[in-house]
Amino acid sequence: MSISDKELIKLAQKAMGNAYAPYSGFRVGAAILAKSGKVYTGCNVENSSYGLTVCAERVAVFKAVSEGEKEFVKIAIVSSARKKTFPCGACRQVLYEFADELEIILEENGEIYKTTLKEIFPEGFKFRKK
Ligand code: THU
Repeated sequence: MSISDKELIKLAQKAMGNAYAPYSGFRVGAAILAKSGKVYTGCNVENSSYGLTVCAERVAVFKAVSEGEKEFVKIAIVSSARKKTFPCGACRQVLYEFADELEIILEENGEIYKTTLKEIFPEGFKFRKK
């Protein structure tokens, strides 16, 4: 049995506890379920050279891909704002590379909200060799 949306949100919340966000004060956590059944988590990691900051979603995906995963089922994203926190444009493109069928699970004041990557990022970029 695959992990529930609620459980995935809980893992994202736990990961948010590790957020390194001394500049923005905006803490984000993500948990992505791979088709293998394994979950990989991430938090945002900021830098004093601001542009080097990496979002929680990309940390989670890159951790997973570096462990050999290439296909994903769903991702949960939470933030310290306690409002629906959608992935930024850069993260949408990174997620699209590996999962155009991805479900996105968000949370606001304890309520779960679901959408899909297709819905929020309909025309991603894919490079194909001729
Ligand atoms: N952030 C994420 O971790 N994910 C997003 O999808 C949007 C933004 C982080 C980056 C930065 O550390 C902070 O939120 C404020 O932009």
